[in-house]
Amino acid sequence: MDSGDKASKYKGQGSSLLLVLVNALCFSLLQAEPIRVLVTGAAGQIAYSLLYSIAKGDVFGKDQPIILVLLDIPPMLPVLDGVVMELQDCALPLLREVIPTDKVEVGFKDLDAAILVGSMPRKEGMERKDLLKANVAIFKTQGAALDKYAKKTVKVLVVGNPANTNCLIASKSAPSIPKENFSCLTRLDHNRASSQVAMRCGVSSDKVKNVIIWGNHSSTQYPDVHHAKVNVHGSEMAAYDAIKDDAWLRGDFISTVQLRGAAVIKARKLSSAMSAAKAICDHMRDIWFGTKEGEFISMGVYAGGNSYGIPEDLIYSFPVQIKNKTWKVVDGLSINDFSRAKMDATAAELVEERDTALDFLSQ
Ligand SMILES: NC(=O)c1ccc[n+]([C@@H]2O[C@H](COP(=O)([O-])OP(=O)(O)OC[C@H]3O[C@@H](n4cnc5c(N)ncnc54)[C@H](O)[C@@H]3O)[C@@H](O)[C@H]2O)c1
Ligand SMILES: *[C@@H]1O[C@H](CO)[C@@H](O)[C@H](O)[C@H]1NC(C)=O
Ligand SMILES: *[C@@H]1O[C@H](CO)[C@@H](O)[C@H](O)[C@H]1NC(C)=O
Ligand SMILES: *[C@@H]1O[C@H](CO)[C@@H](O)[C@H](O)[C@H]1NC(C)=O
Repeated sequence: MDSGDKASKYKGQGSSLLLVLVNALCFSLLQAEPIRVLVTGAAGQIAYSLLYSIAKGDVFGKDQPIILVLLDIPPMLPVLDGVVMELQDCALPLLREVIPTDKVEVGFKDLDAAILVGSMPRKEGMERKDLLKANVAIFKTQGAALDKYAKKTVKVLVVGNPANTNCLIASKSAPSIPKENFSCLTRLDHNRASSQVAMRCGVSSDKVKNVIIWGNHSSTQYPDVHHAKVNVHGSEMAAYDAIKDDAWLRGDFISTVQLRGAAVIKARKLSSAMSAAKAICDHMRDIWFGTKEGEFISMGVYAGGNSYGIPEDLIYSFPVQIKNKTWKVVDGLSINDFSRAKMDATAAELVEERDTALDFLSQ
């Protein structure tokens, strides 16, 4: 064997080594690290519609592997096993691992996102105060667990009712995580409002933008279309001009959106689940990837420093825009007397609920 052969042999090894390195680099670039996403109330009906969408990439992106952590209470663990089996049976390539648990130290560990759906439901004959007390206890525990176990950058979405106040309690119980990383779901109300406007105008729902839900996720919420736009046959106009029926907009439209949850329960004998899951996906995807240029969406966020005269230290639904995983309340929208009264009424309800909840929190 002469030296030339030796050289070419080494050259061959070198280039195959290089190939291995390049491959490894490409692989690690293409294969993002999995993110850890928690869903609580994971054995419930909203979760049943939600988990599939998350696991197939609708929320965090089609190239983002996911570890799903499913938390529920001990009696629901057998049901959770069934949910895990079904997720496995979906054969979803992005779903790297599913971890069912009833322990917060497992459930909240190293989270990138937490979707808190589970809460205490109202039982026959239960007083409002007792229900609130039970939920304060749950969200105090879960807030503390976020503080202790989750990443400091975790994005927390509270869905379980009373969503606004539960969210405030969780945030206060997790002082090491920025308040801005907590939000509560009013996107379902937002989507309901958009859809009512779209149906009224005979256009598809993507032709409606910038409806606003102000306040609590309850029948005092204020669905506001004063700043909404509708694209009718290619030309964009104010929702009031497109609809041309102020009486409807100030009457039935508002009450339909406010009472939609109750209407669904009456018809289905179960509360909204498919639409709630869709709204959760919309909300979290917007946090992850941002809102569209020139558009805003509604979510319950910390009211501190808002420019609309809403009492601070509340989680209140505002119009927000999101960029780089950071939301900003849309400032400078004109508010008429009709809107003002409704925004204040829903704020008053939240202040009262917060004060009672804070009493429980300090006990
Ligand atoms: N914000 C919104 O827009 C909106 C919309 C619809 C429903 N909701 C609320 O979402 C919640 C869930 O609705 P659902 O229809 O899925 O209810 P569900 O009763 O079908 O499921 C709730 C699940 O949460 C679990 N759970 C209860 N306490 C828990 C705890 N401490 N930790 C973990 N899990 C716990 C229950 O065991 C159950 O499996 C309800 O509070 C409902 O009012 C909110
Ligand atoms: C606020 O909305 C939640 C969610 O619907 C509801 O449970 C709660 O009772 C409302 N608060 C008050 C004080 O009415
Ligand atoms: C996006 O947010 C991150 C984390 O807060 C920050 O480090 C980064 O500079 C931001 N990027 C832009 C373009 O604002
Ligand atoms: C969450 O907190 C981080 C700082 O840890 C901040 O950069 C980010 O903007 C916050 N996210 C949201 C949605 O506000």
